Amino acid sequence: MSIEPFSVEKIWVPTDFTEFGKPKENLVNVAGCENSHTSGIVMKVLQESLGSNPALLIDHWQSQDTTLRKKLAELHDVALEQVYLTAGALAGIQYSFGIFVNENTNVGLLKPDFPGFVYFSKWKKANTHWLKNTEFPFYIGNRDIADFVRKNIVDFLILSNPSAVMGTQKETKEIEDLVKASPNTIFIVDEADSIHPDSSSAHLSKSYNNAIFLGSFSKFYGLSGLRVGYLITPKKFSEHFDRTISPAELTSLAILAATHVLDDKQYQRETQEKVRKNLSSLESACEGIPYRVVPGSRCFASYLWADGGVEDPYQTLQGYGIKILKGSNFGIERGGRVNLSSTENIGKLTGAVKQIFPTR
Ligand SMILES: Cc1ncc(COP(=O)(O)O)c(C=O)c1O
Repeated sequence: MSIEPFSVEKIWVPTDFTEFGKPKENLVNVAGCENSHTSGIVMKVLQESLGSNPALLIDHWQSQDTTLRKKLAELHDVALEQVYLTAGALAGIQYSFGIFVNENTNVGLLKPDFPGFVYFSKWKKANTHWLKNTEFPFYIGNRDIADFVRKNIVDFLILSNPSAVMGTQKETKEIEDLVKASPNTIFIVDEADSIHPDSSSAHLSKSYNNAIFLGSFSKFYGLSGLRVGYLITPKKFSEHFDRTISPAELTSLAILAATHVLDDKQYQRETQEKVRKNLSSLESACEGIPYRVVPGSRCFASYLWADGGVEDPYQTLQGYGIKILKGSNFGIERGGRVNLSSTENIGKLTGAVKQIFPTR
């Protein structure tokens, strides 16, 4: 047989998968990047709809639902034909690589960043180039990115914004400068971790043909279990996504829940407020001690770090029953990512930090 079966190393994404019938780990888990609560309105809509509408289970549903796409187009101030729904941002990543990348493509990736990206580059046998900064606070600026793109003739660069590791976010102006500086490079800006839809840069896809944006309902909107996301493309590429995305991409319940959660502004505001407070309580718990939080997080992700003068915080916190996401998953030697969405969990984390450094 002359066929060589596909054999790229399995993708790894920084997510804990829950399994039906299996108990959850008995740990304070702040390793994920999902919301810790749901929209009450969405729970009610799902319960009532499932109780009364068997077609939700029986029928195939139009995955590119016009109502949901219109809402997203309005939210991001783009045209309807620029918006496509996908089974999570993960599918958006896969479709983007599927359309733009082949074995001759120079793909640019940052480190630290979402560790799932590299899988798709390997899958397409592309030439992968890395731009790294694994020194606290891990910031990678526009000038370095532009130099990196130029030096390696990067055709396709994918990055998370906000960062899936630290939660820091480049402003729209910075993203604009980035795409403007390298017009021959396709930029995929993965906004999956955003909790501030108002500050999305996706509208740049109206003015720049090299900027594509990905979104997710798994985090801010609390719908990981339903697998729903979207992408916003310049009109130039709409047809390519239209031809590529599976006609049966989304489930009925995903469409229903996503449509309603976009209207639940109170739930969204509560989430933003909670995260703001949790970040500031973590920051104050770290004042005057060797632990440091990467400054400026704007989403559920924040990064807890300490230099070599003390034991790796990942290790120490484990001894207190607290699980953060180990830095090595992102190529960082010490510390790890912390999820800011649960006030209860952040309370336990800051409590442990105070016990570890009691003498302040
Ligand atoms: C940057 C980034 N992209 C994509 C994903 C996957 O998101 P989704 O659940 O919408 O597929 C995640 C979540 O882990 C992420 O952090």
